[in-house]
Amino acid sequence: MKTPRTIVVGITGGIAAYKAVNIVRAFVLHGDSVHVVATAAALRFVGKPTLEAISRNPVHTDLYEGVAEVRHVAIGQCADLIVVAPATANSIAKLAAGLADDLLGNTILASTAPLVIAPAMHTEMWNNPATVANVAVLRSRGITIVGPGVGRLTGTDTGAGRMEEPEIIVAVALAILDRAPSAGKAAASARQDLAGRHVLISAGGTREPLDPVRYLGNRSSGMQGVALAQAALARGARVTLVAANLEVPVPTNVSCVLVGSAQEMLEAMTTAAAAADVIIMAAAVADYRPKSVQLGKIKKDEVGDTLTLELVKNPDILAGLSASRRPGQLIIGFAAETEADADRLLALGREKMARKGCDFLVVNRVGYVDGETVGFGTERNAVTVLDRGGVIVNEASGSKMSVANCILDLAG
Ligand code: C5P
Repeated sequence: MKTPRTIVVGITGGIAAYKAVNIVRAFVLHGDSVHVVATAAALRFVGKPTLEAISRNPVHTDLYEGVAEVRHVAIGQCADLIVVAPATANSIAKLAAGLADDLLGNTILASTAPLVIAPAMHTEMWNNPATVANVAVLRSRGITIVGPGVGRLTGTDTGAGRMEEPEIIVAVALAILDRAPSAGKAAASARQDLAGRHVLISAGGTREPLDPVRYLGNRSSGMQGVALAQAALARGARVTLVAANLEVPVPTNVSCVLVGSAQEMLEAMTTAAAAADVIIMAAAVADYRPKSVQLGKIKKDEVGDTLTLELVKNPDILAGLSASRRPGQLIIGFAAETEADADRLLALGREKMARKGCDFLVVNRVGYVDGETVGFGTERNAVTVLDRGGVIVNEASGSKMSVANCILDLAG
């Protein structure tokens, strides 16, 4: 059984505070112990009873309560991770200056745990030189800034400043914790091991058009590829995501190229590969595509009872990238197979490794196992990583985020 970690969720006074309830809930459901420290302003946006019920712990606000137990430093000292969401422009300024005029400021100053900040404010405030400078100060201290996203703000306006989606904030936070499950404090120094590296990831499943309304596709949701992007971001990398038909949101701070078909993915990956230090082909790419795409919708009254499709082979993107790699570039491929026998699964992986020419191959079983879908579209994954010689170098099972971190350890 995993040991619960202590996560402190700091909530400051912005309208996005109501979304912090979902962040608290996600950590609790993940099995972690959550303590909310809310500013007085935050409690004007979201009720203390709600936060206490969801976190299953008392919510602290007042600096002068619990003085006998030295609460102003005790909460920070026991934290494995602190997440401030939403972080207003004012709270970011206070953090940058190291102010401790409320319980949250004291908690953060008294803690050596990693800190994750999810800014939320209007676009003008986010772009203000004061905020830009404050955020740069926080980044230079190794603090992870998640978002903000671009989208509809509280009023009628739209722009940068919207708090990142709670599931992405939670995923980034857990990626940091998963790096050092028993010692969040150690994660503070370990998590930037991909700083200065450019990681290119393909995610999702390609769709090969048959006509303007139909395609041949696969069940990949893109969750593992997106988890890799989030984990790489959290470890300091610059990330480019080539995304094919994702069912999950794209993390804000990645540079994303949206593609549909294998051919489009080939073009996007080839272009982006020129500047990448690490390439991870997590996407499920269609091996075949229809030989011709009908301009109009295929009509059953014209086709009759049987429709025969002629398919042609798609280029193998991974094999092509591996063959033309530049020196020092690390390339990781995936092998999703339905083979139930573990030895035969590994044998398939080894054969594939020889064909693809990548540095590492992540082998995982997909499909229906005992009536359950595994691998594709689920929260969890189980993988075995082979090196060029077919030797097992890593095995991981658990959340897609923890699997992502094991894969990234090969690049760190
Ligand atoms: O041959 P298979 O499809 O099983 O290979 C899986 C690996 O190769 C994955 O990393 C996938 O992204 C990549 N691939 C590719 N181009 C294809 C087919 C697969 O890059 N046409």
